[in-house]
Amino acid sequence: MKHVVIVGADRGIAASLVQEYLARGERVTAVCRDAGEAWQDESNVRVVPSTDVTDDSAVARMTDEIGDDPIDLLIHVAGVGSRERWQEFDFETMLAHYNLNALGPLRVISALSDQFVEGAKIGIVTSRMGSIGDNGTGGMYSYRMSKAAANMLGVNLYHEFRPRGIHVMLLHPGTVATQMTRGARNWDAMTKPAEAAAGLARQMDGLGPDSPPRFRHQDGTSLPW
Ligand SMILES: NC(=O)c1ccc[n+]([C@@H]2O[C@H](COP(=O)([O-])OP(=O)(O)OC[C@H]3O[C@@H](n4cnc5c(N)ncnc54)[C@H](OP(=O)(O)O)[C@@H]3O)[C@@H](O)[C@H]2O)c1
Repeated sequence: MKHVVIVGADRGIAASLVQEYLARGERVTAVCRDAGEAWQDESNVRVVPSTDVTDDSAVARMTDEIGDDPIDLLIHVAGVGSRERWQEFDFETMLAHYNLNALGPLRVISALSDQFVEGAKIGIVTSRMGSIGDNGTGGMYSYRMSKAAANMLGVNLYHEFRPRGIHVMLLHPGTVATQMTRGARNWDAMTKPAEAAAGLARQMDGLGPDSPPRFRHQDGTSLPW
């Protein structure tokens, strides 16, 4: 039984990842910003509540709660979207997005660094919106910019952890029907969180010692940086 840590596990894609790894028979630590009530009755889930990944002291508390429990796999999912219009920028909010989408995974993964076993796998859910090569429409300034920074973080982590035999992958879940996308056109037709989670877990399955740094869609497509 592997120890899997899912960060941002209150709802959405992260909650489905908790379900996916439970169904696979793994032991899951669900790091939640809220109380993690959804997981209270699951015997194979340890909830680490009240973990806002933008808050240094909350992340330090999370590290204490996980203690010296070795980690085989971690997926950082917590994130926030944005839709600014040109020249209608709220820079404080944009900084908060950067703090969550780019610095959140750095804060969490750096704090847990000593717990990753040799052969451990780390996934960061960024977004295709953070791809420079795939940006065909513009817009979504702080979302695109902070997710591009998260992709850069992932490649840095790849180099950082490679000597320890720890593998890192950047992940795009597809366009998924969650709270983040609610209200968008065709919401009902979007990929369901459980399907996205199964695909993301499959990408993590394929991650190994010989993998170069990759940015993968949950359907297996390689995305441009
Ligand atoms: N949905 C899509 O189509 C799509 C596409 C590309 C990428 N993504 C990425 O996938 C990830 C998950 O998105 P989702 O669609 O599942 O969205 P969601 O339903 O809005 O879920 C976001 C999750 O992040 C948590 N979170 C937000 N701010 C946090 C913070 N400061 N500290 C800790 N946790 C925090 C939320 O917790 P609370 O419940 O406490 O708010 C929630 O559990 C995001 O990184 C997003 O950018 C989504």
